[in-house]
Amino acid sequence: MMVFGKKCKKLDFMLTDSVTFCNHGGFGGAPRKVIETQRSYQLEQESDPEGWYRYRVEDLYSNATDKVAEFVGSDKENLVLVENVTTGVNTVLKSLQWLPGDKILITNQTFEAVKNTLTFMNKKNEEIEIVTMDIRFPIENKEQLVYQLEETLDANKDIKMVILDHIISVSAILMPIEDMIPVCHQRGVMVMVDGAHAPGQVQLQLDQIGADFYTGDLHKWCFTTRGCALLHVDPKHSDVINPLVTAYLHFHPRLRDRFVRQSTRDCTSMCIASAAIEFLEEIGGLDVITQHNTNLVDWAVEMLANAWKTKHLPVPRSLRAPFMSLVMLPADVNDVGIPATYQGSKKLMGKIYKKYAIHCACTAFDGRFWVRVSAQIHNCKEDYFKLRDAITQEFIEEPKKNNKTK
Ligand SMILES: Cc1ncc(COP(=O)(O)O)c(C=O)c1O
Repeated sequence: MMVFGKKCKKLDFMLTDSVTFCNHGGFGGAPRKVIETQRSYQLEQESDPEGWYRYRVEDLYSNATDKVAEFVGSDKENLVLVENVTTGVNTVLKSLQWLPGDKILITNQTFEAVKNTLTFMNKKNEEIEIVTMDIRFPIENKEQLVYQLEETLDANKDIKMVILDHIISVSAILMPIEDMIPVCHQRGVMVMVDGAHAPGQVQLQLDQIGADFYTGDLHKWCFTTRGCALLHVDPKHSDVINPLVTAYLHFHPRLRDRFVRQSTRDCTSMCIASAAIEFLEEIGGLDVITQHNTNLVDWAVEMLANAWKTKHLPVPRSLRAPFMSLVMLPADVNDVGIPATYQGSKKLMGKIYKKYAIHCACTAFDGRFWVRVSAQIHNCKEDYFKLRDAITQEFIEEPKKNNKTK
């Protein structure tokens, strides 16, 4: 069985040793073996471009799609591969017909690119009304979120679609979508799930979950390289969902055929999805990975909260992502003049990376900074000790020292 942690980072990944990587949820990181498979495909493509595009790529894309479908509990006909979740979301929103006054429900924690897509569509006169549900802390239990959704839907007639994040980026909340989807469907409202962080972190049964549309990145937690995501479409909508690029097979009746040949592009990052899932299975499967990652992330936030005398996000464990969690940064971080806003938190991340070579996702809620730490199989306790020490040195010890010397 594979040894996880430091040795795994060195042997099985191509991640540099000189950077501490506590943000696997950002852009993922593919194993060496998968990258080598992609390189072999690229070499094959370059050695015979004609052969590749005419006789090879469609089979590889199809095999990869079949493997992903099996892994996420989907009928093969209900799922296609796209570049990323943003493409998945855009594909759905721009394929559907909207009428002036139609409403789409999002939350105050919906990913920025998704909000931008809706705003852009409105600028092009779609006249969709965006309704926002505010998710606030503390969250006591899942019923609180489900009830809030019911109330919002009942107070806003004409909502046509709800966009739910399976795992929210800024807070790492694991949304109870299994309970939220029926609430929408009972009211005749479509649901699109933004599952950017879910495949490889949550065991999925997409046909059973029953969302109208579900899109999730495979490059974050499922060991592909960047440029690979799934889009699951309930068969009742498959006729109307088309790729953003109108290409050779655009009018083909089969969903997969419309998505596979989007003109001349390099889709080797999609073709390797089968190799990525085989890697995941070879190292023990999702249960074994979960045991390592969940134990490590739970230990890390506890350790950091104790060291900084802060707390983890006030959300029950069952509503927190399995491999990502938020811990509050010490109040001293607020004293360095960076505003505790979304923009400010990006600045803070840059500061920590540039000085300490540590990647961690910072965010801000209610006037305080938080850090979202991730745990993947290449992580070990030392990574989070380095993060603890960097924050302590930069925001507590050095300012104290400087004050004394003044
Ligand atoms: C919730 C959520 N949605 C969408 C995205 C966008 O993903 P991508 O850049 O792969 O399109 C992200 C990226 O982190 C995310 O966290």
